[in-house]
Amino acid sequence: MKVLFVSSEVAPFAKTGGLGDVAAALPKALRSSVAAGHDVRVVMPLYSRVKGLEGATPVVREMVLSLGETRVVVSVLEKDGVYFVRCPGLYGRPGIYTTDHDEHLRFAVLSWAALALCQRIGFAPDIVHANDWQTSLMPLLLRTMFAWDRLFAQTRTVLTIHNIGHQGTFGAGALGDTGLAGAAHHFHQDQLREGRINFLLTGLLYANAITTVSPTYAREIQTPEHGASLDGFLRDRRDVLFGVLNGIDEDEWSPDRDAKIPHRYSLDDLSGKDLCKRALLASANLPYVDGVPLIGVVSRLAWQKGFDLCFGVLPRVLSRARVQLVVLGTGEPQYEDFFAALARRFPRQVAYLSAFSEPVAHLIEAGSDMFLMPSRYEPCGLNQMYSLRYGTVPIVHRTGGLADTVNAHNGFAFEHFDEQGLMWALRRALSLFGTTEWKRLQRNGMEGRFAWTERVTAYEQIYRLVAPGR
Ligand code: ADP
Ligand code: GLC
Repeated sequence: MKVLFVSSEVAPFAKTGGLGDVAAALPKALRSSVAAGHDVRVVMPLYSRVKGLEGATPVVREMVLSLGETRVVVSVLEKDGVYFVRCPGLYGRPGIYTTDHDEHLRFAVLSWAALALCQRIGFAPDIVHANDWQTSLMPLLLRTMFAWDRLFAQTRTVLTIHNIGHQGTFGAGALGDTGLAGAAHHFHQDQLREGRINFLLTGLLYANAITTVSPTYAREIQTPEHGASLDGFLRDRRDVLFGVLNGIDEDEWSPDRDAKIPHRYSLDDLSGKDLCKRALLASANLPYVDGVPLIGVVSRLAWQKGFDLCFGVLPRVLSRARVQLVVLGTGEPQYEDFFAALARRFPRQVAYLSAFSEPVAHLIEAGSDMFLMPSRYEPCGLNQMYSLRYGTVPIVHRTGGLADTVNAHNGFAFEHFDEQGLMWALRRALSLFGTTEWKRLQRNGMEGRFAWTERVTAYEQIYRLVAPGR
């Protein structure tokens, strides 16, 4: 099949979280699918932070997009199947996402540019695969502004929700900049009357199929508690809503192959894991003490991730138990301040690194004994799967994709999002550490099947379901 896969992040070029990893690994897995070997073209913005484009081919030198009254000139470069939309006025900024007044335009342009690119290079996709709110206008664009073009006659759309907490809601004044003012009647009318447009909702209304990144999250988002006001729309479309668990890219995340860790290891011989732990502690300026477990955290420090529960629990655990903690992450000040204060209060037990660092993330996965993810909600979560693969036993809140991957055989999942729940899971993990039961948990995790090759057939089935003649 021919697939146009459009995403606001693609690793290693631009990544703030799991979407970047998925947008790199899923297209790669689809291309090497044993059954088919699909032709997958990936499109992303050329942010100023993107490196490694030496040798990229200019595909489109200049293309003028008219989004209503707004004219935008873009060009396109290609490298290894990834197309970079160049528009310095929109993407030449320090961040991937911004709170600038034209945020809606930055991603409306990405969607327009991806479809205009297909026209320029004569690529007739069977599937346009959009991801999250940033590319959610594509289904409606195909049904309206691009509907005249026979190139797209067979094209069907799939929209993947990676996080329903971000919907791309803007004042109705942004409608003109989407280039869809002529199709205003296709937007949700009540919202429009209230003066709003919602990119994600627009995608949910017009995509041929909707997927999200775990079966549990697919159920959760159809409830008022987790649906972030879109649950009713999702229930209406439940016959085309699918939960497909994300996979992991084992070329990047495998302890026996990982080039970013100082010592490689496997289930047969875990000695390299202990060496990684020593290296991690040394780099974090913490002492290595035989038999003392090390908990790792790698996370965006956002409300979603549930670290509020740690405010009361971690100081108690650290003062009573022999345990160490290494945290890597950036985000909201209350969480950054909390971990920084924790490191000052427990200087021999806690280290906090406020940074985004791919190598440190790998070292924490390899060198920790346990991995903490108390997420309030978690559409899928990749870090717990990386942890399982690295023999690092996850401690999680049983929600979303965490509920689908962590269980009593490979880790610790607490049921209720409260301090007692987290305390129970931590106590239980600490009491089992070093026992034969612990080794069993590690082994079960490392033997789990989390690779994308296990998941790709689910996407193939969904593509076939919506694409005519396939
Ligand atoms: P989310 O997408 O909600 O952030 P995931 O668990 O799906 O959560 O994916 C997070 C990804 O981002 C993982 O690859 C993780 O290693 C990475 N990550 C998060 N914070 C950092 C950081 N500070 N440094 C390096 N990598 C990070
Ligand atoms: C989102 C979610 C995360 C998921 C990732 C990739 O960022 O928060 O749970 O793993 O997307 O799908």
